[in-house]
Amino acid sequence: MESGVMLMNNTWYKDMAVYQIWPRSFCDGNGDGIGDIKGIISKLDYIKSLNVDAIWFSPLYKSPNKDYGYDIADYKSISEDYGTLDDFKTLVAEAHSRGLKVIMDLVINHTSDQHNWFIESKKSKDNPYHDYYIWRKGKGKRPPNNWKATFPGPAWEYNEHLKEYYLHLFAIEQPDLNMDNPKVREEIKDIMRFWLDIGVDGFREDVITFISKKEGLPNGFPIPAACGMEHYKNGPHIHEYLSEFKNDVLSKYDCFTVGEAPMMTPEIALKYITEGKNQELNMMFNFQHMEADCFMMTWIRIPFNLKKLKKAFSSWQTELYGKAWNAIYIENHDQPRVISRYGSEEYRVESGKMLATMYICQSCTPFIYQGQEIGMTNIRLPELDMYEDVFTKNNYKMFKKLGFSHEKIMEIAKYASRDNARTPVQWNAEKNAGFTTADKAWFHINPNYTEINVEAAEKDEDSILNYYRALLKFRKENPIVIYGDYKEHCKNSSELYVYERNYEGKRMLVINSFTDKKVDFTAPEGFDLSKGKLVMTNYKYPATSYNGFKTKPYETRVYMFD
Ligand code: GLC
Ligand code: CA
Repeated sequence: MESGVMLMNNTWYKDMAVYQIWPRSFCDGNGDGIGDIKGIISKLDYIKSLNVDAIWFSPLYKSPNKDYGYDIADYKSISEDYGTLDDFKTLVAEAHSRGLKVIMDLVINHTSDQHNWFIESKKSKDNPYHDYYIWRKGKGKRPPNNWKATFPGPAWEYNEHLKEYYLHLFAIEQPDLNMDNPKVREEIKDIMRFWLDIGVDGFREDVITFISKKEGLPNGFPIPAACGMEHYKNGPHIHEYLSEFKNDVLSKYDCFTVGEAPMMTPEIALKYITEGKNQELNMMFNFQHMEADCFMMTWIRIPFNLKKLKKAFSSWQTELYGKAWNAIYIENHDQPRVISRYGSEEYRVESGKMLATMYICQSCTPFIYQGQEIGMTNIRLPELDMYEDVFTKNNYKMFKKLGFSHEKIMEIAKYASRDNARTPVQWNAEKNAGFTTADKAWFHINPNYTEINVEAAEKDEDSILNYYRALLKFRKENPIVIYGDYKEHCKNSSELYVYERNYEGKRMLVINSFTDKKVDFTAPEGFDLSKGKLVMTNYKYPATSYNGFKTKPYETRVYMFD
């Protein structure tokens, strides 16, 4: 197995751990109730103290915020809400001076309908920008095809003036760019160079596998959501376009990319990320491990299924090993808080530490989302008008149409809404959780901030926060955690997730319990726990009697063997 490792380059992006900031809710530096760059700069020492190596910023660009930054009105400017381009340059310098890399969010499948290109595009059919977007004539009174948008509804919007429809795979205010137009690709490369020249170290590329649409835009298989996806997911020219971006721009800088890829499998991912001269992206975010409690999206809920989770993780770990590099997250701005999903709010601290261990001890570059490191939980907003997220509002309408009652939809939203991840970071127990000095923050603050906050976690040596610090340090100091191979044990257990790692003669065993029940764990063949060193755990005095133990609620243990 170890020979696989020899084939791979050990580059800096593999060793690093990344912290994700969703700027609006991170920290308000100027007292207007909205998070900003000044606030971020004031917390750089805190971020560094987590033992991470890079920060990925969700979009900071100018945006009308129909999708909170993922609808960009100007790719080369910073939103006034967050500061100025000079402020951003200061942020890059301050981050770099602390050894932290900076990753920008590159959203190029679509722009905002307020982007100048789109405003020009809809002026006339012979406007030079018209062909920057995907405009088509309707079929009689109907749209050009039956595709559906992710933020539900038809994927086409009619323009009275032009008597044409434009394509939007997301919200109406997010028109899709026509990547088949070479001028559009030149613009994208120009945007990449602009940020790389400022000094950013890489990009997270938003829904990047959707940018090439099938010629003729044929009808999709008729399903209620994401209809048409088979014609734009991993579309006909995707590899060509990504190679062009890489050869013309990315390969000229010491930078890295991670692409967001809904419905991705390891087999298809390898076409993008296999190391070597044809590699298009360095890593990929997949969604399979975020579907252990749902079907395709959090709104279609199923009971949490550990076997489904393990299957997803194990297939990515084994299928990429020696060929390509994993990127793993368990939270981000699109996902409800993980403790409220895969862990337990009753055993918040225990399950928060277990979930951290479970994924950070896999072979990957781990991503940690703001607030995850202190174990923030879902806010569960009770009323529809308390939500901000376009996906939540549109899903409400869709479920209503499907005949769901208001009460039922609110029950789903409380669990599934992306807004659960977008409440302000809880810094202390003071007014507005220390997020802002304004009277009111831009968004609801989880009332549990009096208990769950950074200041309290700093003071408690057993906090989730201090556990993350220790775990990330442990990872950095032990190449086996980063580069070792992976083998799953206890596959049939629906309560325990156990795996081993091997590297240069060392072995590591990672045991995670996903239940509050006592479960009998016996070490797999070839492991003698009495000879192992317990290096990470979430209980003070874990009892070991035989070559195994009865697990405590959400217990995690990592044993190292020489
Ligand atoms: C990605 C982003 C999400 C956004 C969508 C459309 O999935 O992570 O926040 O709404 O793309 O840009
Ligand atoms: Ca502010």
